[in-house]
Amino acid sequence: MLYDSVHNLKLYIETVGCQMNLLDSELVVAALRKAGYELTADVADADTILFNTCSVRQHAEDKIYSALGRLKFSKRARPQQVIGVIGCMAQKDQDLIFKRAPHVDLVVGTGQLAQIPELINESRKNRRPQLAVSLDRRDATRQEISDSFQSYDPLRDPEMRPSPFQAFVRIMIGCDKFCTYCVVPMTRGPEQSRPPRDIVHEVRKLVAEGVKEVTLLGQTVNSYKHTQSGRLFRLSDLIAEFHDTPGLERIKFVTNYPRDMTNDLLQAVRDLPKVARYLHVPVQSGCNDVLQRMKRGYTVEHYREMLGRIAEFVPDCAVSSDFIVGFCGETEASFEKSVALVREARFKNSFIFKYSPRHGTKAHDLFLDDVPEETKRRRNNELLDLQNEISAEDNARFIGCRVEVLVEGPSKSALKSPLVAEEPATGATRAQLVGRSRCDRIVVFEGNPRLIGTLADVRIDDCTPTTLIGSIVTREFLPIIE
Ligand code: 5AD
Ligand code: SF4
Repeated sequence: MLYDSVHNLKLYIETVGCQMNLLDSELVVAALRKAGYELTADVADADTILFNTCSVRQHAEDKIYSALGRLKFSKRARPQQVIGVIGCMAQKDQDLIFKRAPHVDLVVGTGQLAQIPELINESRKNRRPQLAVSLDRRDATRQEISDSFQSYDPLRDPEMRPSPFQAFVRIMIGCDKFCTYCVVPMTRGPEQSRPPRDIVHEVRKLVAEGVKEVTLLGQTVNSYKHTQSGRLFRLSDLIAEFHDTPGLERIKFVTNYPRDMTNDLLQAVRDLPKVARYLHVPVQSGCNDVLQRMKRGYTVEHYREMLGRIAEFVPDCAVSSDFIVGFCGETEASFEKSVALVREARFKNSFIFKYSPRHGTKAHDLFLDDVPEETKRRRNNELLDLQNEISAEDNARFIGCRVEVLVEGPSKSALKSPLVAEEPATGATRAQLVGRSRCDRIVVFEGNPRLIGTLADVRIDDCTPTTLIGSIVTREFLPIIE
């Protein structure tokens, strides 16, 4: 078979990790579609198998290595098959992946994704392992390292988006914070902000294609800084540049770094109506000793001061957080401080993780992973239970109120058993739909599928810790809350 002129080759891609990875996969798929590939959901049917990987915790890596293990003999049936590991684990483990899984054909880091179509062809032609990764952060000058991590944003594939109305837009790559537990500065390289003109162009193009909501992505998105034609653009300036694009309804940005939550950004959240009243600002721990060992660069007092400013500028703003439990040296007393902070801050939700030591990080080299797994698990559950209790109480405040929802599509439970019925009086179709409020709360309600992709008013009747449950508002007059 002639593989140079690719026709209807089948691609299977599996993505784990953060939104940045989802976006990377969207772009890789778009490039491969352009090269003649079509997607398959069946790994046994694929000519090319790609794993877009995450290295933040050991568990995510273990899952990929076992998926690779299952493919050990898959080339017996398909000798031309190409198996690739791309993304963070590729940058972190490099050659080690070929050693642990010799049937892998390509290993491509986060900074080389643009080369994937070419590398696949090369591998199929020469049947030699292909390795494309960026420079290690200790091995060259900052400029050389930065140049070796290329932001990858040229192509979009609407079919890989979370929904036709929502799109991620990368505004920066990399991270320079070097929190001691975190592998991201190694896997995604130095912090580099993209030029505002490219981002604005991309947003306008997406909106012209029907996108209603953009989520700006960056590891520390509020550290965004770029000087263009002698003018410094901060995140607030960037948002103002495209906020008024007709057809665009919502703007979100993740993930924020507490120390860079400046007043100009909070003013933008307050004054620009399309910006979600929602900030994801991970604190990681409620204990100053732990924060110091994590090298987070702030104290609980700083974080509290920031929460105060958020509440002062945008009183109805929802805040969510991340916590790591069982970090090196976390005592019961330090854990209790995280519990106290969750109680005090009343986050909309929190993502809670058990500390997982990562090769190449300071914490791995300097500190003992001294909290037993069982203790990590107990602390994780305890913090999550408390957060759920708070989220449920918080959601209950919405009962009887009206929220504006950007309708995303059928709800997950509706996808399992599509609850599409006809209204006896009008004959209109109704389905269980899901969307989010302006403060990023998930709202499930029954409505006409034609509402998908529009803003709808929904009255909240009930809730769970994670979801508001409501019904479409017709003529009632109810107080609106965010
Ligand atoms: N172990 C556990 N959780 C981690 N995170 C980052 N690195 C680690 C690690 N080594 C968590 C942080 C971060 C989120 C994306 O993942 O809470 O905010
Ligand atoms: Fe990792 Fe810290 Fe950078 Fe976030 S800010 S990506 S936790 S190093």
